[in-house]
Amino acid sequence: MTGRKLGRGVALVGAGMSKFGAFPGKNSRELFVEAFQEMTGSVDKGFDPAAVEAAYIGNFSSELFEGQGHTAPIMTDWVGLNSIPATRVEGACASGSLALRQGIFAIASGLYDMVLVGGIEKMTGLSTDGATDALATAADVLYEISAGFTFPGMYAAIATAYMHEYQMTPDTLLQVGYKNHEHGALNPKAQFGQRISTIMEARKASAARKGKPVPTWANEFEFLRDDNANPQIAWPLRLFDCSPVSDGAASVLLVSEEIAHQFTDSPIHIIGTGQASDTALHGRSTLTSLPAARKAAQTAYEMAGVTPADIKVVEVHDCFTIAEIVATEDLGFFKPGEGWKAAEDGLTTRSGARPVNTSGGLKSKGHPVGASGVGQVIEIYQQLRGSAGERQLPGSPSIGLTHNVGGTGQTCVVNIFERR
Ligand code: COA
Repeated sequence: MTGRKLGRGVALVGAGMSKFGAFPGKNSRELFVEAFQEMTGSVDKGFDPAAVEAAYIGNFSSELFEGQGHTAPIMTDWVGLNSIPATRVEGACASGSLALRQGIFAIASGLYDMVLVGGIEKMTGLSTDGATDALATAADVLYEISAGFTFPGMYAAIATAYMHEYQMTPDTLLQVGYKNHEHGALNPKAQFGQRISTIMEARKASAARKGKPVPTWANEFEFLRDDNANPQIAWPLRLFDCSPVSDGAASVLLVSEEIAHQFTDSPIHIIGTGQASDTALHGRSTLTSLPAARKAAQTAYEMAGVTPADIKVVEVHDCFTIAEIVATEDLGFFKPGEGWKAAEDGLTTRSGARPVNTSGGLKSKGHPVGASGVGQVIEIYQQLRGSAGERQLPGSPSIGLTHNVGGTGQTCVVNIFERR
């Protein structure tokens, strides 16, 4: 089963997303419309939305979050595409990437020439407890949730095992969150788009305004080590190690490679895609790697005919800071046990040798779970086209990768993109 190729080429020609954040006044339909409208406006040479032949929408659980199921036709109806086949795709936090894969297959098979891929989640209508319970249904309820685990708890177990095996300390995790906030500060769509220094100074100013004692943090890392400013969520993970509860939508337009130049002179080609599944965390032989991510990456690399060294920009699934470190090893960028050193050495910053999560990642940009995978694709699309604004990496990267994880790695998807 190695070295499989797509039946024909598939390209991205448009991309748009809502801002990610907490929007009490907006439902998921309105967010989806925002993403769709930005996507239609982004197609360089324009296109007629009536020409879209099918839609695949990633959504984890609109039933639990909003009390509304049957998400896909509702979203397409709301954007005026009410008669095309609309299919919802669910794979927990990897739902968006699964939707992308369905769109890829639909075009590669020759069935359609133009497909809408979207992702949507509206999570903040629930309290944090409610969102935690809804998210927990993506774990193994029989063996994990019944034992008291939550997602922060499961990733804390991964972090603890990693620290034990590779002698990392929680301080390294803080560096990942710090870095993603630095990146997210350049992203107008980010939910927490502030540098840690900005958040820290705002807290000091707020204390002064209220006549309370002004904290004396000497720098951002003193702030991040302070249990009051950055409380423990599930040791060793603190608040700034966790992605937030978010609302948001994202959408991209896929077309067959043959017609891509009708829409833009700069299409982005999908050259590799891989997906793999795994047993739940409780049944795995390792806690310091996601085997399904390794398998998905291997499939995608083989299809694309590239190696990790060829990847110049990458969005990985940093639902918790430890997940980013593990991802950089699973993708082959660093050897097992060396991802944390790379993070400490600054290799994964925008100016480092291996920039990771230029969008701010799920940590800073936000994590509306069904939309996150499509949001990752949009960052790579923009970076490869040179349209990422202030976030644009120098040196015109030509190959990029997305890594999207469902749950603790029971579903993993890796996609590889190229500007030619
Ligand atoms: N990072 C930084 N700040 C955050 C944050 C985050 N992830 N989440 C919330 N905040 C901020 C809020 O803006 C608020 O700030 P303010 O007091 O200045 O207004 C403060 O922290 C408290 O917000 P609140 O929403 O009450 O936090 P909470 O304690 O209820 O929730 C978490 C925090 C980390 C528990 C919650 O975001 C969470 O569960 N995240 C993980 C989601 C998840 O599991 N996703 C799936 C991954 S597989």
